[in-house]
Amino acid sequence: MLPEEIDRAAVLAALPDGWPVPISAPVAQRLCVPIGIDEAELAPVVLDFADSPHLLVFGDSGCGKTALLRGICRSLMESNTGAQARIIVGDYRRTMLGVVEGDHLGGYAPGASVLSAMTTELAGIFERRLPGADTTQQQLRDRSWWAGPEVFVIVDDYDLVASSGQNPLTPLLDYLPQAKDIGLHLIIARRAGGAGRALYEPVIARLRELSTPGLVMSGSRDEGALVGTARPGPMPPGRGILVRRNGNELVQTAWLQQS
Ligand SMILES: Nc1ncnc2c1ncn2[C@@H]1O[C@H](COP(=O)(O)OP(=O)(O)O)[C@@H](O)[C@H]1O
Ligand SMILES: [Mg+2]
Repeated sequence: MLPEEIDRAAVLAALPDGWPVPISAPVAQRLCVPIGIDEAELAPVVLDFADSPHLLVFGDSGCGKTALLRGICRSLMESNTGAQARIIVGDYRRTMLGVVEGDHLGGYAPGASVLSAMTTELAGIFERRLPGADTTQQQLRDRSWWAGPEVFVIVDDYDLVASSGQNPLTPLLDYLPQAKDIGLHLIIARRAGGAGRALYEPVIARLRELSTPGLVMSGSRDEGALVGTARPGPMPPGRGILVRRNGNELVQTAWLQQS
């Protein structure tokens, strides 16, 4: 049923409320990111990063991980100003170079030392955003005890990042459970090969404990279940099983021509 390719423009055109979300909209709406269409209805699939702050993506080389991350970045930039959403890109293969620019770019890390410096600095920012003893219910609800952008840390080819001795994402670990309150989002794309064993590595383990949504794309079935009950298998580029709290669905991700 799903097409081999669905253009990003076609997905956006099918959104009931139009696109982009106006920058005057509440943050909960601006963090809704369309990523493709589902098999059951061929309708747009929208990730709600206000509700589920993080995302895991697994798939082998050529399955469409980087293309998906490019589309997510593009969507965030279209519906948010740089003051509303800031993106930090961890990209050891440099396949996302130039995707995020200007006010939206919080930092670009092509290697471990740069990424470590950035996450260490971010940890300081998130420490100051943690709710205090005097934070009220109302403040918690509208998050008015801190001001600043939502921060998206988007890491492509995470297998390269995690394999280098000290993991540069370690400083963010303690903040992942409180991410919703402090405006932190971690999006990780990793090779499916070896992913079964990598599930116990601290960052992925923590994200899985938090019931993070995941997209399981093409890869070997031998890796077993990577997110929820979803295991990889041979799939065309852009195809994946999206696992969320309310169930699994087969998705064709939106294709965005590289400009
Ligand atoms: N959503 C998609 N729909 C159709 N083809 C895609 C899609 N995403 C990727 N592809 C094809 O797969 C190729 C590899 O995509 P890429 O994102 O670089 O994969 P990965 O980062 O997983 O190695 C692209 O050049 C494109 O030809
Ligand atoms: Mg890639």
